Amino acid sequence: MKTNYLLPALLLLSTGIVSVCAAEKQPATDHHRALWDPIHFSPAIDSATNEQCLSCHKEIYQRKVLDRTPAGVPTKSTLAWYQTLDTYKGPQETFHRRHLVTDYAKKVMQMKCTTCHQGENPREEAPIPPDQTNTRFTLRKQVNPETCLMCHGSFPDYKRMGLPSHWNESREMFQNNCLLCHAGVRTNRHKVNFLKPEAIEAAAKEDSDVCFGCHGGRQWYRISYPYPRHAWKGMPEKIPDWAKGRPAESNPRFLTKQQQAQK
Ligand code: HEC
Ligand code: HEC
Ligand code: HEC
Ligand code: HEC
Ligand code: HEC
Repeated sequence: MKTNYLLPALLLLSTGIVSVCAAEKQPATDHHRALWDPIHFSPAIDSATNEQCLSCHKEIYQRKVLDRTPAGVPTKSTLAWYQTLDTYKGPQETFHRRHLVTDYAKKVMQMKCTTCHQGENPREEAPIPPDQTNTRFTLRKQVNPETCLMCHGSFPDYKRMGLPSHWNESREMFQNNCLLCHAGVRTNRHKVNFLKPEAIEAAAKEDSDVCFGCHGGRQWYRISYPYPRHAWKGMPEKIPDWAKGRPAESNPRFLTKQQQAQK
């Protein structure tokens, strides 16, 4: 008789949430109401702070990875290919912690929950009937993967950069240093509300994997992100064919308050 256990378990769970939220001065609520809380949806989510989300989702910072994989391999002795970048430090951490609270994340980024989470409908996760023109849905994902592509795409087309081959092959020739060119080309970069532009440049001078890390070194996708092309000092007048139609400014959602006020 499964249901006999399920009901008290559900009750325990919901009172758990009530007391967690009460401690953080959230009005008492239950699991169902909390899931459908307006904060999970636009417009409220657009201006939500990390503190507001964490008042119910402390687990996001607190969760730990397992000591061993289910097959018994100790976490300490596993290393993925992308974890061999020089910037990767410390023991294994959860996905959320690696973007929000670990040392390197805090050094070069200032991500918020809402940098990735823009609100999605937990019940209707795909348009029915299928409709490719409906871009409000990201097919059963809680986050739009285009956000990830900005930092986990492939190294942009090397021919555009005037490189003889992919960075993996040509890096030695350029002293493993993107700044040989990027101290003069596309210098107006990273002025968005989830990055720390000055800290990135400083870190890149110390460690050459910094730039590559977000532009091909932790590649989850086969394609590269079509970055906005901000005007820079000394920019040639002629727009190359590949860059026609590229925006000249970052996505408005990522502008800092200051930049928004100047609009
Ligand atoms: C009032 C408490 C509360 C607040 C505040 C809150 N959440 Fe939630 N959230 C919940 C509950 C409860 C669920 C359902 C959890 C479950 O079913 O496992 C949930 C589920 C989610 C999910 C999973 C949705 C799905 O499709 O299953 C995400 C993602 C999420 N919250 C992100 C956020 C973000 C980002 C914020 C801040 C903008 C936030 N939450 C604020 C209580 C809250
Ligand atoms: C780097 C992007 C990113 C950031 C920043 C981020 N999340 Fe997530 N979050 C994700 C992704 C990706 C998933 C998994 C989505 C899926 O399974 O479709 C997820 C899942 C979740 C879930 C549901 C599943 C789970 O693991 O419990 C909750 C709740 C959640 N995030 C809350 C938060 C909160 C609160 C913050 C801010 C403190 C935050 N997230 C910051 C990308 C992010
Ligand atoms: C602003 C840049 C940025 C964005 C956007 C971003 N990431 Fe990352 N991601 C990073 C950096 C930097 C690291 C490496 C952190 C480190 O080495 O400590 C990383 C690491 C990871 C890791 C490896 C974690 C580990 O412990 O090995 C995964 C998986 C990942 N990201 C997935 C995602 C997904 C999925 C999204 C979109 C929801 C996303 N990232 C969005 C910058 C970003
Ligand atoms: C030989 C000089 C050179 C080197 C070395 C170089 N780049 Fe570039 N890069 C360029 C040029 C030129 C462009 C295109 C400028 C334009 O927009 O007209 C470019 C464009 C880019 C773009 C924008 C691509 C797009 O689609 O908008 C990124 C991102 C980038 N480089 C990152 C890097 C990183 C990271 C490294 C080192 C791992 C690197 N580059 C090394 C010359 C170089
Ligand atoms: C933590 C991740 C991260 C690091 C580290 C990083 N970038 Fe980026 N880069 C991004 C993101 C995200 C964007 C797109 C920002 C936007 O939308 O304006 C970007 C945009 C760019 C662009 C396009 C600029 C334009 O015209 O707007 C260039 C070029 C570039 N990066 C080169 C570099 C170089 C060179 C370094 C090292 C000094 C570097 N990046 C380090 C994440 C990163």
